[in-house]
Amino acid sequence: MNTPSLQIVNPTGHLRVVVTKPLPGTHWLDVLIAAGCRVEIATGDDILSGDEIIALIGDHCHAAIGQLTESWNAELFAALKHAGGRAYSNYAVGYNNIDLPAASACGIPVGNTPGVLTETTAEIAVALTFSAARRIVEADRFMRGGQFKGWLPGLFLGNLLHGKTVGVIGAGRIGEAYARMMVEGHKMNLVYFDLRPNIPLEEFVQAYGAFLTTRGEPAVTCRRAETLACLLEEADVVSLHTLLDAGTRHLINAERLALMKPDAILINTSRGPVVDEVALVAHCRSHPEFRAGLDVFENEPAMAHGLADLDNVVIVPHIASATKWTREGMASLAACNVAATLRGYPVAAVGDVRPFLAGTPPQAAPSILNAHELGLA
Ligand code: DGY
Repeated sequence: MNTPSLQIVNPTGHLRVVVTKPLPGTHWLDVLIAAGCRVEIATGDDILSGDEIIALIGDHCHAAIGQLTESWNAELFAALKHAGGRAYSNYAVGYNNIDLPAASACGIPVGNTPGVLTETTAEIAVALTFSAARRIVEADRFMRGGQFKGWLPGLFLGNLLHGKTVGVIGAGRIGEAYARMMVEGHKMNLVYFDLRPNIPLEEFVQAYGAFLTTRGEPAVTCRRAETLACLLEEADVVSLHTLLDAGTRHLINAERLALMKPDAILINTSRGPVVDEVALVAHCRSHPEFRAGLDVFENEPAMAHGLADLDNVVIVPHIASATKWTREGMASLAACNVAATLRGYPVAAVGDVRPFLAGTPPQAAPSILNAHELGLA
């Protein structure tokens, strides 16, 4: 077990907060310092093991900010509780790395960072969609390889998406933002699959369709698919925006890939295990016209054997939220979750997180996932 090197900020603070990776920006530190925290930051790039995190927590720790790459399980929450811990925040909106019932059993509120990743993640889903559709990475490699001998009628033919159908699986915040970008920007028809109807999204598409009609253009349409199979059969692009849980693990498997159009595009910016990556490799091999754009992988940081060799797959290293504004915003929200909980402030009503991102934040925790279970909301 390695002992991570530490940066200590505000050594005289009376509340010890451990942070398992350096975070961007300085506002988050200002928030914690103002709350009286001594902040101890593990500075290495290596992902800390459970034992290393337990050692970092030690026997005296009031709160922790952790990463989606760490498994915050019952053992870690017990260690935090034992050390006097009263708050935890994930530096992520997703929380499949957290055993939430275990945290609740320890009475530890768990924060996450919604609201600042929405457009950022949707934008990279759009970028992957068009990189895949227009074969940008293949073409870039071709240029750098000195293979371009001049314009040709058949060079790198891709898919035109304008006016086609986009399928969105999971029409929550990010799925909705992606859907709007594809509908409004590229006049695509929308089919979405979600357990709940997204009425504002449906109304948006309807109003946009009506607007297009007044300009003599074909209206765009929106339909909530009755089954996942209907969406997969119909869509030219399928983008995944679900949570990862037992019900969505391998949601896209060999059987479902086979339902998709042979030249469809599959985008995943949600969580890797939502797609059976081995099945995807096999499908992309046997369907060269099929394309995929992946930000997340089933066994990160590893990739399924053969994935990296496929020209019809665009792969990026889990960077969907990687803009300065978003990553600094995530740090501010994580710090506000911890600082507010330690100071006994209430949990904010779900809504606009911008007041938490600069200056003196509201006296509330922006997002606590187990607030109901702990009687905080
Ligand atoms: C999250 O916050 O869950 C994202 O995956 C980070 O990019």
